[in-house]
Amino acid sequence: MDFRPTEEQKMIQQMARDFAAKELKPRAPEIDTTAKYPLPVLKAMADLGMMGMNIPAEYGGSQAGVVSYSLAMTEIAKACASTAVTMSVTNMMAEVLHTFGSEEICSAHIPKICGGEYSCGAFALTESTAGSDPASMKSTAKREGDHYVLNGSKTFITSAEYAGVFVLWAKTDKDAGAKGISAFVVGKGHPGFIVGRHEEKMGQRGSPVNEILMENCCLPRSNLLSQEGDGFKIAMMALDGGRIGIGSMAVGIGLAAIEYATAYAQNRIQFGQPISSFQAIQWMIADSFTELEAARLLVLRAAFLKEKGERFTREASMGKLFASEIANRVCYKALQMLGGYGYMKDYPLERYSRDCRVTTIYEGTSEIQRLVIAREILGSNYVS
Ligand code: CAA
Repeated sequence: MDFRPTEEQKMIQQMARDFAAKELKPRAPEIDTTAKYPLPVLKAMADLGMMGMNIPAEYGGSQAGVVSYSLAMTEIAKACASTAVTMSVTNMMAEVLHTFGSEEICSAHIPKICGGEYSCGAFALTESTAGSDPASMKSTAKREGDHYVLNGSKTFITSAEYAGVFVLWAKTDKDAGAKGISAFVVGKGHPGFIVGRHEEKMGQRGSPVNEILMENCCLPRSNLLSQEGDGFKIAMMALDGGRIGIGSMAVGIGLAAIEYATAYAQNRIQFGQPISSFQAIQWMIADSFTELEAARLLVLRAAFLKEKGERFTREASMGKLFASEIANRVCYKALQMLGGYGYMKDYPLERYSRDCRVTTIYEGTSEIQRLVIAREILGSNYVS
């Protein structure tokens, strides 16, 4: 067992850290207040290889590996969580297409995702009445000759406003439960595929989420990913990988918060001394860094298993659950360390706290992660 990153992993981490410090950190407050994403930044990230980190070079990916991806994601999230989630969903999308798409689909879309021509990709699974339980979705895809005709709607679709390509789930067999769901690829602006209402969010405001409407959206059969009825498993496998991204992001937000608060505590004088000299503050610092390191190791273990081609469903859920819960706790403490200033918009702690909140919700709530973990343990000969 070796806990040290390789030279290449360290190099990629450093590259992401430098980019984040120079290009993202100064822009993050404005991205939050205006809720507008500066698209050239996403293009610059694509140029650095951050939009297809697990994609082979033949499709324009940087094939950096899952561990490097996790390390880079944490660095990006330390500077701007909105950018981090865009990066996470885009990488997840590129991988879904690469794993399940035909050669035609892969060559048409993946180079444009990795190269930044598309800005980002979007993952259209959730519906207003099918969130934690996507198998209950109502959108339909009716086969008509060589085409499918899609009808229905999607909710909370990350990056829908900017995405060049979408993976979209709909029922090809309404009576077959999870086995009746299929996945389709849809390009931006396709007739009958409408990006609707923009939601106002509490945090990660530079990452837009929108409603999507499908009104007799007619797709050629070649836009089907894998086979009819494979959609649910495709979504679950994609989300396993996505949860590594969200866990890595949560670690980054937590680190940003506690690093800021620690520096503040060393300079904030009360009762004639820096507040970092008080044990109450020291324990918050010690607990926060310890918990975040534990979270980082859990997430990296999932990344390592995925990179080795082994099963990682349970580890990804453990990493996402622990990292997102811990990061929220750390943000709470870090804001507390700044007292009244922590609550003010002049300081970044209130933004970190808002940005962090959703990490226990999207890509499977903490309750769903516990369900996945328990099922994995109870359904196998779990050896600790
Ligand atoms: N990998 C491969 N296959 C899987 C799988 C996995 N991780 N998980 C389940 N499956 C398979 C099962 O083996 C089963 O197949 P068989 O019938 O052939 O055995 C099939 O899928 C159905 O599985 P379940 O019976 O376990 O399905 P379920 O309806 O009970 O749901 C669940 C399981 C884990 C609760 C799942 O519904 C889930 O993960 N829910 C959360 C959804 C979610 O994360 N949504 C996030 C939206 S996207 C997003 O947030 C992106 C963003 O914007 C940032």
